Amino acid sequence: MTLSMELAVLAVLLPLAASVTNITSTISLSPAQTPSPGKQMHDAIYNSFSIEFSFMVEYAGNDSHPNTFSQQVIQNLVDISGEPPMFRVGGSTQSLAVYYPDQAEAIIDPFESIASTQPNYSFIGPAFLQSFHQFPVDTKYIFGLNFYNPDETLFDIGDGLAQCVLEAHAAYTSLGDALYAFEIGNEVDVWPGTDMRSANWTLDDYVKQWNHYAANISLNLTGKDDLQLFQGCVFESPRNDVANAEADGMTTKRAKTVSDHDYMGTNCGYTGVGPTIESTIFNRTLVLSILWYHEYLGNLTRASGIPYVLGETNSIACEGAEGISDVMASAIWAVDYVMYLSSLQVDRVHFHMCTRCRYSAWVATPFNGTDPQVYPLYYASLFNAQVFAGGEKQTEVLVNTTSMGAYAVYAGGELESLVAVSVSIWNSTEDATARPYTALQLPEGWEQARVFRLTNPGVDVATDITFAGQSVNQAGEMVGEKKYEDVLENGVVLVGAGEAVLIQL
Ligand SMILES: *[C@@H]1O[C@H](CO)[C@@H](O)[C@H](O)[C@H]1NC(C)=O
Ligand SMILES: *[C@@H]1O[C@H](CO)[C@@H](O)[C@H](O)[C@H]1NC(C)=O
Ligand SMILES: *[C@@H]1O[C@H](CO)[C@@H](O)[C@H](O)[C@H]1NC(C)=O
Ligand SMILES: *[C@@H]1O[C@H](CO)[C@@H](O)[C@H](O)[C@H]1NC(C)=O
Ligand SMILES: *[C@@H]1O[C@H](CO)[C@@H](O)[C@H](O)[C@H]1NC(C)=O
Ligand SMILES: *[C@@H]1O[C@H](CO)[C@@H](O)[C@H](O)[C@H]1NC(C)=O
Ligand SMILES: *[C@@H]1O[C@H](CO)[C@@H](O)[C@H](O)[C@H]1NC(C)=O
Ligand SMILES: *[C@@H]1O[C@H](CO)[C@@H](O)[C@H](O)[C@H]1NC(C)=O
Ligand SMILES: *[C@@H]1O[C@H](CO)[C@@H](O)[C@H](O)[C@H]1NC(C)=O
Ligand SMILES: *[C@@H]1O[C@H](CO)[C@@H](O)[C@H](O)[C@H]1NC(C)=O
Ligand SMILES: *[C@@H]1O[C@H](CO)[C@@H](O)[C@H](O)[C@H]1NC(C)=O
Repeated sequence: MTLSMELAVLAVLLPLAASVTNITSTISLSPAQTPSPGKQMHDAIYNSFSIEFSFMVEYAGNDSHPNTFSQQVIQNLVDISGEPPMFRVGGSTQSLAVYYPDQAEAIIDPFESIASTQPNYSFIGPAFLQSFHQFPVDTKYIFGLNFYNPDETLFDIGDGLAQCVLEAHAAYTSLGDALYAFEIGNEVDVWPGTDMRSANWTLDDYVKQWNHYAANISLNLTGKDDLQLFQGCVFESPRNDVANAEADGMTTKRAKTVSDHDYMGTNCGYTGVGPTIESTIFNRTLVLSILWYHEYLGNLTRASGIPYVLGETNSIACEGAEGISDVMASAIWAVDYVMYLSSLQVDRVHFHMCTRCRYSAWVATPFNGTDPQVYPLYYASLFNAQVFAGGEKQTEVLVNTTSMGAYAVYAGGELESLVAVSVSIWNSTEDATARPYTALQLPEGWEQARVFRLTNPGVDVATDITFAGQSVNQAGEMVGEKKYEDVLENGVVLVGAGEAVLIQL
C-alpha cells in the first residue's frame, strides 16, 4: 500500500481522528509471542535514581523533618509499580566527604557562590544517616564511600583507609537491610594526576586498592573478607575499563555489580556551538552509538557473573543544559533510553539529580526562589513505572529508526504490552493541528488494549505534561483522573511527534 492509500483507508476508518490528525506514516508492530532466550528480567526498580551525595539531606530530610515532597513523588511511583526505585547516593561530592563521628550537624558543605553547583567539600556526621530512613518502606540505597589515599594530606585525613572504614561502619550500622551496596570512590578513572591520585596511578593500582579497602571494610563489618556488598568501577564513561578492571582482579568475591556513568552530551568543556535537543538527546544515531558500549560491556560482565549497571546517567553532563534537560524532550528521550537499555544485559539505570542541577527528575527543597517541584524527566519515571509494574518483565526492540523506538514487553514470558516513542522534534510554537502522527498498526487481538499516552504541546517546553491524563501538582501529588484511550478502529494507535505511548493488553 502506498502512503496515500493508507491515509485514505485510515480516513475512512477514523473519520474523527483523521479530520483533525495529520497522519504522515504507518508502522506495523509485529512482536514475537515470547522473548528471545537469555533476555534479562526486570522489575520496577529498573528506572532508579542517583542523588548527588551532598544533597541527600535536602532530598530526604531527617527524623524530625522528613522531606514530604520526596516522600510523595516516590510514593506515586510505588502506587503505580508496587515497589520503590533504588537510590544511589554518590557522585563527585562522595569523594570529597569526610565522616566525623562527633559532628553534631548532618552536613557542613560550603558553596563558593549561589552559582556553584557543588560544595567545596562535605563534612558529615551521624545525623547525615537519618536521611536514609525517610523514603518509603523497602527503599534500597547504594552508599557512595570516600576513597582517600592510605596516607592522605587532603583535609588532614591521614589514614584514608581508616576514614573509609569509619564511614562504611557508620552507614552499615545505620542502614541495615536498606543498604544494597557500597561504592568506593566516584569516577576514579579520571583521578590520575588530580588531588586524589598521582599521575602514574593505573587501573591495576585502582583494582588492588579497591580490593584492599573492600576487604578491610568486609573484615570490619563481618569478620570475613568476602562480603559481596560493593558496586565496583563507578567509572565516568563506558569504554573498556569495566572489562579491564575485572581482568585485573575485581571479582564476584566482593563485586555485587559494576557501574559505568554516561551522558548524551556535555554542558561544559565544549568549543563552538553548544548542545541542542536535536544534536544530543533527539539524535537517535548518537544515542544508539553510546548505547552500543553498554550493550558490549553488559554482555562481557554478565558472562563474568557480575551484573552491569548504568549507575549514574542523564541527558547532558555538567548538571544539565537549560532548554534540553529541563523540558519535555528529556522525558521522551528517557523513555526510549530506558526501554532500549532494558533490552540489553544492563541491570538498572540510575538518573542523577541534585538541587542545583537542571536535569533532576525533581527538586525537593526551595532553591534560588524556586519551590520544590517535579521536572519533565519525572514523567518518564511514571511511564516506566507503569511499564515495569509488577515485575518479571523482559523487553525486545521492535522498531529502531532514527526517529522512533518501539518495544515489546513480556511479563512472565508472555507478551503484555507495546511501547512506541517518537523521537521527533515538535515545538509548542508550531500549529498544533499540523503535528505529524505515526499510525501504529497493532497485531490482531489487540483491539481491546488500553493506551497510556505521555504528551504535552511540545518538546521545547516543560508545561502541560500529562501521562495517562494525569499531571503532578505543586505538592508532588498526582492530579486528574487516570485515563486510558481505546485502540482506534482496525487496531490502530496514533503516536504524535515528541510523544510516547504504552499499549497494554
Ligand atoms: C533536622 O532538620 C531540621 C530542618 O532542616 C533541622 O533544623 C534540624 O537541625 C535537623 N536535625 C538534625 C539532627 O540534623
Ligand atoms: C537565580 O535566579 C535568578 C532569577 O531568576 C536567575 O537569574 C539566576 O540565574 C538563578 N541562579 C541560579 C544559580 O540558578
Ligand atoms: C571553596 O573553594 C574556593 C576555590 O575553589 C575558595 O575560594 C573558597 O575559599 C573555598 N571555600 C571554603 C569555605 O573552603
Ligand atoms: C570497625 O570499624 C569501626 C569504625 O572504625 C570501629 O569502631 C570498630 O571497632 C571496628 N570493628 C571491628 C570488628 O574491627
Ligand atoms: C608515582 O608518582 C608518585 C608521586 O609523583 C611517586 O612518589 C611514585 O614513586 C611513582 N610511582 C611509580 C611506580 O612510578
Ligand atoms: C586494614 O587496614 C589497616 C589499617 O591500614 C591495616 O593495618 C590492616 O592490615 C588492613 N587489613 C586488611 C585485611 O586489609
Ligand atoms: C547526530 O549524531 C551523529 C553521530 O554522533 C552525528 O554524526 C550527527 O551529525 C548528529 N546529528 C545532529 C543533527 O547533530
Ligand atoms: C551482545 O550479546 C547478544 C546476545 O548474544 C548479541 O546478539 C549482541 O550482538 C552482543 N552485542 C555486542 C555489542 O557485543
Ligand atoms: C538499532 O540501531 C543501531 C544503529 O543502527 C544498531 O547499532 C543497533 O544494533 C540496532 N538495534 C537493534 C536491536 O536492532
Ligand atoms: C524547536 O525549538 C528549539 C528550541 O527553541 C529550537 O532550537 C529548534 O530549532 C526548534 N525546532 C523546530 C523544528 O522548530
Ligand atoms: C503534516 O506533517 C508534515 C510533516 O511534518 C508536514 O509537512 C505537513 O505540512 C503537515 N500537514 C498538515 C495538513 O498539517
